[in-house]
Amino acid sequence: MGKVMWKKEEGLGSQFPYHIYLIGFMGSGKTAVSTQLAKLCSMEAIEMDRMISEREGMGIPEIFDRYGEGYFRSLETKLLEELQGKGHAVVSCGGGTPMRKENVERMRQSGKIVLLSAEPETIYARVKDSHDRPLLEGNMNIPYISGLMEQRRERYEKAADLILHTDGKGIKEICMEIMQRLHK
Ligand code: S3P
Repeated sequence: MGKVMWKKEEGLGSQFPYHIYLIGFMGSGKTAVSTQLAKLCSMEAIEMDRMISEREGMGIPEIFDRYGEGYFRSLETKLLEELQGKGHAVVSCGGGTPMRKENVERMRQSGKIVLLSAEPETIYARVKDSHDRPLLEGNMNIPYISGLMEQRRERYEKAADLILHTDGKGIKEICMEIMQRLHK
């Protein structure tokens, strides 16, 4: 359960011979976009949070609660290490993944990094009813989201090969834009 399974033909039919890493703030649409993009590009879709959660046998909030954020961050780094040199997937990263320099280096070595951006108001509307994100528990408001986004902006933008604004756009539109821009 939760093991990365690489199909034999995986990547061969794909137009992108590398991983596509989707980064961005919580609620920026990484999961939905990665699923659709992987279908359109005949690539494997990997959601880091989901894989970590399956392997640990518990949800992300419980991992934070029991073992702390540092432990979770080291699981993210380990998973990225594992993905190196293994096929071509669309990888939906956790919102904090690009905050570690070594993670960004690994992503760079093995693929392209696409930043999905959205306004704090859009993010808030998408995440406000969810309880899966420990960093937002008790902080579910636009000023907090906006502040954390500002703290992360520079790292996110520095890491990105391309930046895509998602406000007001549909998932398919976003995917088409990513494909077009990666082809250039
Ligand atoms: C986090 C984002 C979450 C998850 C964890 C920490 C972050 O992923 O990895 O709760 O630090 O921004 P999503 O961006 O998929 O919500």
